[in-house]
Amino acid sequence: MSVVDINGLNLSFKLENGVFPTLYDVSLSLKEGEIHALVGESGCGKSVTAMSIIKLLPKNAVITGGEIIYNGMNILSAPPSELRKLRGSEIALIPQDPMTSLNPLYTIGNQLLEVIEKDGNLTKDEAIEKAIEVLSLVKMPNPKEKLDVYPHELSGGMKQRVIIAMALATSAKVIIADEPTTALDVTIQAQIMKLLNEIKTNFKTTILLITHDLGLVGEYADEISVMYSGRIVENAPKDEFFKNTMHPYSKALMNALPSNTKDKILKTISGQPPSIQEQIVGCRFSPRCEMCDSAICGAVPLLAEKHNSHFVACHRV
Ligand SMILES: Nc1ncnc2c1ncn2[C@@H]1O[C@H](COP(=O)(O)OP(=O)(O)OP(=O)(O)O)[C@@H](O)[C@H]1O
Ligand SMILES: [Mg+2]
Repeated sequence: MSVVDINGLNLSFKLENGVFPTLYDVSLSLKEGEIHALVGESGCGKSVTAMSIIKLLPKNAVITGGEIIYNGMNILSAPPSELRKLRGSEIALIPQDPMTSLNPLYTIGNQLLEVIEKDGNLTKDEAIEKAIEVLSLVKMPNPKEKLDVYPHELSGGMKQRVIIAMALATSAKVIIADEPTTALDVTIQAQIMKLLNEIKTNFKTTILLITHDLGLVGEYADEISVMYSGRIVENAPKDEFFKNTMHPYSKALMNALPSNTKDKILKTISGQPPSIQEQIVGCRFSPRCEMCDSAICGAVPLLAEKHNSHFVACHRV
């Protein structure tokens, strides 16, 4: 069952010298109790897609088409009061830098109690108990003592745990995790990913995991979408994706994985992804694509089902 449906999202950014398309026809279906990984190089539009889901976009963003359906409601046209409700309780965001969602001036306890007491039907003692409970759920050591601690007294991994605890406190149905572990070292990264995986299993939470780390994806994702320059170029269930990677860009990403290159030199994708201001006729990957055939790739390739539930946007597949 899908919980969030992004259908044909088109978004542009207004700059001094014009309006530049940034997301092209992005469609994603996030299913209940699944981790859906959104993968792609820096600047391809992962965060803009994520922020569209809670409609927290920069002022110069213009949505030119599409809808995002949650609970039968189009988030993109929802009134501000509905959006506030959604962000506060149903859809939680775990950002790359936890300090952007923790207030340095308040203790962890204050910040947890604020979201817990939003419901309004708990006594103070019950709310404190709940705060300790969610901190235990995220395996915070000495949860009770942590209530009196300020964010700066915690490590990066511990701050991320607090943010995940806040999502649990509101019983969020959807967690958008935008590179939640990029700022953390590898062992902590694994702990946070394990935690998100447990939350998915225990609470049937739907998780959008944004990352450029295909290794992480292989371990934890149920479904994968690969984005290139504002377009979803491939989408498939995890096993199918790894068994049968089809898009030349996805293949290049796979080849760049250290485990696939063994002692060989790490193969990187030559060239740079285009900026949003760069006009490209047809397939936006074509200038970097080893399989490009100028006779056909000058037309925009649309996402099409090439195999069971396996969608690819490429004329050459
Ligand atoms: N406020 C803005 N004004 C103009 N362009 C923007 C703005 N915000 C983002 N962009 C551009 O939109 C594109 C997508 O940005 P986005 O932040 O979604 O990338 P990303 O995939 O999340 O990258 P990263 O992996 O580095 O976080 C980029 O080319 C970026 O430069
Ligand atoms: Mg980003």
